[in-house]
Amino acid sequence: MKNYNSSPRQNNQTPNHSRDRNNKTVHWFSAIWLRFSLRDYGFCMATLFLFCFGSLVYQLNGGPPKVLLEIRRYLGESTFVDDHGPPAPRVLPFPSQVIYNRVGKCGSRTVVLLLRILAERHQFNLVSSDIHNKTRLTKHEQVDLMRNISSIPQPFLYTRHVHFLNFTRFRIEQPVYINIIRDPINRFLSNYFFRRFGDWRGEQNHLIRTPRMKDDERYLDINVCILENYPECSNPRLFYIVPYFCGQHPQCREPGVWALERAKQNVLENFLLVGILEELEDVLLLLERLLPHYFSDVLTIYRSPEFWKMGNLTGTVKKHTPTLEALRVLYHRMKYEYEFYNFVRDQFHLTKKKIGLKSARQPAPREPSFLRELALRTPEPLEEEEEEEGLDDANNWLVQP
Ligand SMILES: *[C@@H]1O[C@H](CO)[C@@H](O)[C@H](O)[C@H]1NC(C)=O
Ligand SMILES: *[C@@H]1O[C@H](CO)[C@@H](O)[C@H](O)[C@H]1NC(C)=O
Ligand SMILES: *[C@@H]1O[C@H](CO)[C@@H](O)[C@H](O)[C@H]1NC(C)=O
Ligand SMILES: *[C@@H]1O[C@H](CO)[C@@H](O)[C@H](O)[C@H]1NC(C)=O
Repeated sequence: MKNYNSSPRQNNQTPNHSRDRNNKTVHWFSAIWLRFSLRDYGFCMATLFLFCFGSLVYQLNGGPPKVLLEIRRYLGESTFVDDHGPPAPRVLPFPSQVIYNRVGKCGSRTVVLLLRILAERHQFNLVSSDIHNKTRLTKHEQVDLMRNISSIPQPFLYTRHVHFLNFTRFRIEQPVYINIIRDPINRFLSNYFFRRFGDWRGEQNHLIRTPRMKDDERYLDINVCILENYPECSNPRLFYIVPYFCGQHPQCREPGVWALERAKQNVLENFLLVGILEELEDVLLLLERLLPHYFSDVLTIYRSPEFWKMGNLTGTVKKHTPTLEALRVLYHRMKYEYEFYNFVRDQFHLTKKKIGLKSARQPAPREPSFLRELALRTPEPLEEEEEEEGLDDANNWLVQP
């Protein structure tokens, strides 16, 4: 008793509260607890505020979206060296804004079809733009589009053929990006013949699609196009995949190191996953794992016969493989495209490894020696309906440099 009474804490207490011993003890402890918790609470809030403020500033300055960082941590970025970092989140973070800025002729028709089914099943908003021929925008159009995208009720997945949009630059929250690319020469060939001869929808289809195309363009031998430097088979037209990842900056469309490096950086910072079409089933599997709220069951749907019937996904385009000489020339012209493709493929394989999937094939050799097998290596994917930018200026195609 004496001890308690002599403590300074007790002196301030009202007689009511110090009447009996049990009460006193309880009160004493709760006072301490209150003091500590208030202080801790303040400290926590201050820390939290600083953290949030800091991450906001970081984000607005062009850092990766927070949810992306969390997913990376969840996956375990750690090697043995940085194993002592903050504990990984136990629950996979759920991005509620996803953009798929689909690249032309890289299987996106298939993926969009899958998304239609998934959107219904998992109740997210799928907005698939029907603008197929405008990948670069003025500043004003960019802001307009980004505002539109941001106003879609979440969770949403927005998809369009459009070069990367930098939301952060305009102080809008950056969504998470996903994409799929494919071997650059195969993509080019697929587009070349698609423009001329259409797809599974039959012989007449190409005539409806490109009615203004003259016969000497339509039946132009691809070897002539390449070896005689027609614009369609030369740069900058061959610089096609990189700008989707580089962005809207004019320099993003100039074949070169600047655009390449920026595109790579962007893949690391803003893309949750960039898959490669050659391993489409693994891409779908990873999407299922990384974005379950959008992609659960996608592989089951993809493998079901009903899906293939529904999508009429059986046809192929007429395709001739260029001569080895022409392929070699093409390969050298697409140097940056290949550097980018190889980078993406390595990243993709790394992600597969983290998830515990084995790579389906050995990394392809990086020299033109692989060109001979090129056409055989890639299964022809399901052709898309989309047209590409530049279709309408096809009238200038005969102009040679
Ligand atoms: C895109 O296609 C639409 C019609 O499909 C056409 O009106 C428009 O001019 C095209 N835009 C470009 C930039 O080619
Ligand atoms: C944005 O949405 C408005 C209204 O829905 C539409 O008129 C406009 O064309 C859209 N802009 C873009 C860039 O999609
Ligand atoms: C996006 O904009 C921010 C802010 O202007 C900039 O720091 C960042 O480098 C840009 N990122 C890309 C990929 O253009
Ligand atoms: C598939 O083809 C059939 C007949 O050829 C057609 O009626 C149907 O609309 C096509 N489906 C799609 C998704 O285009």
